Amino acid sequence: MRLAGKVAIITGAASGIGRATALRFAQEGARVVVADINAAGGEQTVEQVKHEGGEAAFIATDVGVETDLEQMVAFAVNMYGGLDILHNNAYWTDAKPLLDTTVDNWQRTLDVTLRPVFLASKLAVPHLRARGGVILNTASVHSIIGIRNFIAYQAAKGGVLSLTRALALELAPEIRVVAILPGPIDTPALGIDDKSAIGNLITATPLRRLGKPEEVAALAAFLASDEAAYITGTGIVIDGGFTTQ
Ligand SMILES: NC(=O)c1ccc[n+]([C@@H]2O[C@H](COP(=O)([O-])OP(=O)(O)OC[C@H]3O[C@@H](n4cnc5c(N)ncnc54)[C@H](O)[C@@H]3O)[C@@H](O)[C@H]2O)c1
Repeated sequence: MRLAGKVAIITGAASGIGRATALRFAQEGARVVVADINAAGGEQTVEQVKHEGGEAAFIATDVGVETDLEQMVAFAVNMYGGLDILHNNAYWTDAKPLLDTTVDNWQRTLDVTLRPVFLASKLAVPHLRARGGVILNTASVHSIIGIRNFIAYQAAKGGVLSLTRALALELAPEIRVVAILPGPIDTPALGIDDKSAIGNLITATPLRRLGKPEEVAALAAFLASDEAAYITGTGIVIDGGFTTQ
């Protein structure tokens, strides 16, 4: 088991990539704090982990609220005695083109998608440093390539990758900081109801399918483990070849 004895916080773990990563981390021996604004989904993730014989606990967290992030980190440390892995994964967007992007939309997107990478990391670092920890940030292929009509999201995800580099420099050599850049992954975030949009995404993807959350979780487990001990300050793309053309 790659993460035996480790304690991990995963934000946005009530669904999609975060839930799959919580399950995978627990299978790899980690005790997992599931942090999400969605209590029902978060509790479901914990139930799934426990059903498989793993250890996890849920804390209701709006990552856009500073005191919630403080409580999240304190919860992990009090519950499991320390912290080894912080996975900043939650996001929010209401995708709009430039002329329809209000200041409120811009602010909420950055407050939920970018600011927690700064703030949760700041709160977690004293605990991570004590144990030689890892920060994983879910960025996006749209940290490195453009997308129409996602003005605030694109800015936020560019920031996540940039901040990953800055944090890695500052926190080395004790703490590694790595971004994961998913392409089209089959989660609720894709808006799976829109069949033609999904079809277009699949056509634009050389491997001709959407990625699975479990495939992103497998990458996260590797990056969080000692097998990735020489990887920091970079982003790893997992996109079925989407960004090659
Ligand atoms: N699915 C994709 O194709 C794709 C592609 C690139 C990047 N990503 C990134 O992957 C990450 C996970 O997304 P996903 O695809 O699993 O989506 P998802 O919708 O399945 O999960 C997102 C989770 O974030 C939670 N969340 C939303 N607002 C929150 C808040 N204020 N506080 C705490 N939690 C909050 C939601 O409740 C949900 O559980 C995101 O950072 C997303 O940008 C996804």
